[in-house]
Amino acid sequence: MTRILHIADLHFGAEHPALVEAFHDTAKALAPDLVIASGDFTQSGRKREFGAAARFFAALEAPVIGMPGNHDTPVRALHERFFRPWRRYDRSLEAEISDRFAGPSVRVECLRTARRAQWQPDWSLGRVSLPDLDTALDRLNAGDADQATRILTCHHPLLAPGGARGRARTARAEEAARRSADHCDLVLTGHLHETFAESLERDGRLCWFIGAGTTFSLRTRDEPAAFNCLDLAPDRIEMTPYEARSLDEGFRPAAPRTLALTA
Ligand SMILES: [Fe+2]
Repeated sequence: MTRILHIADLHFGAEHPALVEAFHDTAKALAPDLVIASGDFTQSGRKREFGAAARFFAALEAPVIGMPGNHDTPVRALHERFFRPWRRYDRSLEAEISDRFAGPSVRVECLRTARRAQWQPDWSLGRVSLPDLDTALDRLNAGDADQATRILTCHHPLLAPGGARGRARTARAEEAARRSADHCDLVLTGHLHETFAESLERDGRLCWFIGAGTTFSLRTRDEPAAFNCLDLAPDRIEMTPYEARSLDEGFRPAAPRTLALTA
């Protein structure tokens, strides 16, 4: 069985140090094979925030796979935001984070959905490039992929609770969710600061769309700080959210869910 810790929305710059420390303790005890980090590692794309994120990832023992979120391009340095939006991210984190992973029992591909700017008032919503999505899905299915759990991860949710797309408001999310359901098993996302698992069925198989809470930011909205522990078996995923409801208690497991991969 492969164990993955799914984290998102770290928001270094607004993090609570006690939760960072508690996460390291819990991660050491859970001993994951992989960490998947679904974007928004900084609060406003400052260099010192990227430095803190790099130190955090470097201290993890498992390989990390991830991509930037909408907070990971400079908010104030507008020239850099428009002309080199991901330079700080790439320079700070390329040594610590990979865009893909391929092993005998699990494959992971990242899709970048955050944008420097958009022709709409809310630039945080991002956009799916369908050609980039198809490239990622092709890679997940290349060669002998039959035995592997195929995982796509991006920052913005493609599907979320609440009927139809729920709160998934990213451009082209609906079509992207359909294509993902055809060609992968799990879609891991962040952005909403909400823990959830929703499924789409295609030809008797289920694709699960899983959201992670914000792992140790003070921007906890209505939910506790949280991350997901995912144990992958060939026919199912055991999902256990870990939640920090108070700084003193650290992360504790919430009720687990079994997510079957066949309908
Ligand atoms: Fe976000």
